[in-house]
Amino acid sequence: MTPGADPSTFSGRTGLTFPRRAAVGAAFVLIVIAAAYFARGGADAEPLPGPPLREVAKKQGMELGTAVRGDALERNRAYRQIAAAQFSTVTPENDMKWFAIEPERGDFDFGPADDIVERAREANQKVRGHTLVWHAQLPGWVKELGAKDLRQATREHIHAVMGHYDEDVGVWDVVNEPVSDDGELRRSVFMRRLGPGYIADAFRTARAADADAKLYLNEIGAEGINAKSNRLYELVRRLKAQGVPIDGVGFQAHANLDGLPGDFVANMRRFKALGLDIAITEADVGLPVPADPGELQAQARIYREIVRSCRAVDCRSLTFWGFTDGRSWISETQAGMGAATLLDEALRPKPAFSAVQQALGG
Ligand code: XIL
Repeated sequence: MTPGADPSTFSGRTGLTFPRRAAVGAAFVLIVIAAAYFARGGADAEPLPGPPLREVAKKQGMELGTAVRGDALERNRAYRQIAAAQFSTVTPENDMKWFAIEPERGDFDFGPADDIVERAREANQKVRGHTLVWHAQLPGWVKELGAKDLRQATREHIHAVMGHYDEDVGVWDVVNEPVSDDGELRRSVFMRRLGPGYIADAFRTARAADADAKLYLNEIGAEGINAKSNRLYELVRRLKAQGVPIDGVGFQAHANLDGLPGDFVANMRRFKALGLDIAITEADVGLPVPADPGELQAQARIYREIVRSCRAVDCRSLTFWGFTDGRSWISETQAGMGAATLLDEALRPKPAFSAVQQALGG
């Protein structure tokens, strides 16, 4: 046998011996498989028990939603699959906020929010637009404007964003969190520079920007009947009386183990009686972490109450502020708190998941 003819040492044109070539080939195949796996965003979601939440909600004539994060939808296949399978609406958690969408004046970055809208279309989901006029997550330049420029820039922002999503977003949180806990209008940059009229102005501008969209005022911590919700009630009652185009009020419903106030339904009813649609827009139930089984059961009962409260007022939609403890603002922003959503960090159902399913009638 001539040197080189032995197949086990055959080196051919690559100069590699056969065992080495086999190893390189195998490594190459593995790299291709791994690349494909990560390009798809990892493993498939484990199936969740029972009928999808969006299906059971639909039977009640209710939309069921979640906040979503563009980066997670992009990179995490299981997250993407569950968002699509379980929910009929999505609210971009951060990607439509002013800092994200107009980081410099007149310089719009719609890309990340467009991706969410595209995914929603593929999953046959509606998109709730969040949010146009809010004191938080503003780009620095907005806070530096004087009254005249701020009024103008706010109108331009509303027109540009609503105009861009005219076809895709049917509901907007036009003004977010305008009342402070002490029952006064919040001393936001808008309030300080423009006075209380900024609220009516935002709604009128929104109506001019999109004649068909449902225009919401969204509020935090106004679930019970208290100084804050009384002020909110007075505010929207006057807006309605003045013919300002407001269609609905969103109650965020961020809760903890204290549960929601016993008069939540009564409170929502008085807003509804003004002729407004009601939505629960950001529900979650934060727990002290690590949470024990008893706390997870208590959380499930609170989630059930949230669903029942929404049904009791024939709410338009119920949105959770995220669906996995691995991606929830509670664990990210509140020290010692977390575990606030329906699924754990590995996307496994917690007691709250089946509680919601049952409360929806599934
Ligand atoms: C939160 C997001 O969940 C976080 O990721 C972000 O860091 C801060 O904002 N009320 C609202 C939401 O209207 O936009 C907020 O979302 C939570 C409170």
